[in-house]
Amino acid sequence: MHETPTSSSRARILSGMRPTGKLHLGNYMGALANWVKLQDSYECYFFIADWHALTTDYADTAQVAQNTLDAMLDYLGAGLDPERSVLFLQSKVPQHAELFLAFAMITPLGWLERVPTYKEQQENLTGKDLGTYGFLGYPLLQAADILLYQPQFVPVGQDQVAHVELTREVARRFNQFYKPAAVGRPGGREVLPEPKALLTPSPKLPGTDGRKMSKSYGNTILLADPEPEIRKKLKTMVTDPARIRRTDPGDPDKCPVGDLHKMFSTPETMAKVYEGCRSAGIGCIECKGWAADALVQILNPIQQRRASFTESQVKEILEEGSRRAAARAERTMQEVRSAMKLPLADAVVAGNC
Ligand code: TRP
Ligand code: SF4
Repeated sequence: MHETPTSSSRARILSGMRPTGKLHLGNYMGALANWVKLQDSYECYFFIADWHALTTDYADTAQVAQNTLDAMLDYLGAGLDPERSVLFLQSKVPQHAELFLAFAMITPLGWLERVPTYKEQQENLTGKDLGTYGFLGYPLLQAADILLYQPQFVPVGQDQVAHVELTREVARRFNQFYKPAAVGRPGGREVLPEPKALLTPSPKLPGTDGRKMSKSYGNTILLADPEPEIRKKLKTMVTDPARIRRTDPGDPDKCPVGDLHKMFSTPETMAKVYEGCRSAGIGCIECKGWAADALVQILNPIQQRRASFTESQVKEILEEGSRRAAARAERTMQEVRSAMKLPLADAVVAGNC
């Protein structure tokens, strides 16, 4: 048996996702599976960024609560463990809003306007008016999410690196303006240490149409899809375009189904796929059946664990996790308020008023 490090001796990480509803295999391979592993070596905070959902979906918030529960069920199904990680909901920890407000005071507009996702998203999501203050502030809220927990690392995909970079710049600016109160802070550590992005290796996971798997393309396989649904989706999946007839040889390296095999199938199945596809010895239907088998194997245990939680248990886990998160966040906020010389706020916290 090896020793389990105590939480204080481990480096801390924090990451989150917007509640987009039930998660798909792309979310799993690109983030969740990695988070599950990180639980073995880090002190972990994982959360659902429901306020971030409002930056784009402010006009119709009807889905946010259900999407949050669905996402949380997938977190738990995938193996995030409330005993080992703090699992929480952003909007249940008002310190996120408070630190966001403080950051809003010190962040030059140009920094936010230059974040690449800002213009990109405005151009892509044409059905919505994203000329709002909240949407511009998206990465600043993310900076608050992160810095509140003073983590060393933020596990994210490549698409979030610019946001972590902005987070570091905001921390640096804050630390330049506001020094820690001398009392109780020996060593003069800065109030908001700069965290680093911990890049998640993300193999290319194609959706059923061959493009990157994404909710907005409608080409996803959900973690919660039952077996018949998985098999049905696989049947419609695009294949090597050179393989028009059953007698045409194909190439798994040019086929999205081949990509799935590479990620999920055993070496024995892979060998059969390469051999059979290149010699036209197998049909695509058969090959897709094997890919479906592999997916079902991966998803079965996730779905069983998912089904073992009731809705009220999920809510309870979020309540409890959010209480723990708020306690940690409040520690940082006390340092923040005192560095900003807002002593009255401290008095309120200490219960002196
Ligand atoms: N912007 C992230 C995404 O779209 C979600 C997010 C919000 C996040 N706050 C965060 C990720 C803090 C990591 C850390 O995926
Ligand atoms: Fe793709 Fe398999 Fe068909 Fe080859 S046999 S083209 S790998 S689905």
